[in-house]
Amino acid sequence: MSHVKIAVFPVAGLGTRFLPATKSIPKEMLPVVDRPLIEYAVEEARAAGIEEFVFVTSASKRAIEDHFGAAPELERQLRTARKTAALDAVSRSRLPEGSSTFLRQDNPRGLGHAVSLAARLVGDRPFAVLLPDDVIDAPGGCLRQMVAAHAETGGHMVATMTVDREATRAYGVLDVTERAGRIFHARGLVEKPAPEAAPSREAVVGRYILDPAIFRRLATLRPGAGGEIQLTDAISADCENLPVSGFGFDGARYDCGSVAGYLEANLAFALSRPELTGGTLDMMARHLARHQTRGAA
Ligand code: UTP
Repeated sequence: MSHVKIAVFPVAGLGTRFLPATKSIPKEMLPVVDRPLIEYAVEEARAAGIEEFVFVTSASKRAIEDHFGAAPELERQLRTARKTAALDAVSRSRLPEGSSTFLRQDNPRGLGHAVSLAARLVGDRPFAVLLPDDVIDAPGGCLRQMVAAHAETGGHMVATMTVDREATRAYGVLDVTERAGRIFHARGLVEKPAPEAAPSREAVVGRYILDPAIFRRLATLRPGAGGEIQLTDAISADCENLPVSGFGFDGARYDCGSVAGYLEANLAFALSRPELTGGTLDMMARHLARHQTRGAA
């Protein structure tokens, strides 16, 4: 039984790296193979025992709400046409009635600000935060692995992965005091450090289990890197009063907030689908050969 029952999905960002695709479509609705990014995150949360889903959205993101609701007309047509697989896919994506809440973040003032808007709904409970642009392929799901570890550590826990020193400038990085298996006990976090100043190579990726004390911290936090209210700053400031740890999950993470990472996720997930593996490999071989011929010419 999971002790974490509620999850927050911040999806109010502008998605500028995917313009013009994201001019009228939320980034979180871009598909990896045939499922939107947001569905991977919601599935992962459900596998971890989450029962309440809070989406922090913005004005242009109605499609996300529609995706998780019922689609009676579409379902009726698919049933009549006996398109069972398509009907299953549509019904599977629906969240139980009354389990989801959609909050508006009118100005994207940062991830920390987006999370702070869920304070009243979360109340005095530990809660998860999932960033759908990080798609994580992990046995049982990354969040499920974290929930089991968090039952031992309590406090704030962030998912981490080891990166090259040069790459630390793109991530929040843990200041590690001690390692116990997959758990990294930490005394702080530094947002996007220069490689020579990075306290470790353990980089934060988009999964968190947070103590509700984070809301008091976020309420008084000043804007940090990029002029935004940074979630990592709030977690780091809480190190004085709470255990803070990283969890080196077992799995592969794809940065679908970047175009290159998004393309890789599509390839990896296509290759893992038996009905698509052969065709994808053929396609890759063809393109590789064409690319090499062009290079040699
Ligand atoms: P990103 O900075 O990666 O997303 O935020 P973005 O702003 O949409 O993307 P680019 O850089 O312009 O391409 C990480 C996550 O936090 C959410 C985003 O929606 C994304 O899921 N976020 C960020 C918010 O909900 N509100 C914010 O104010 C900032």
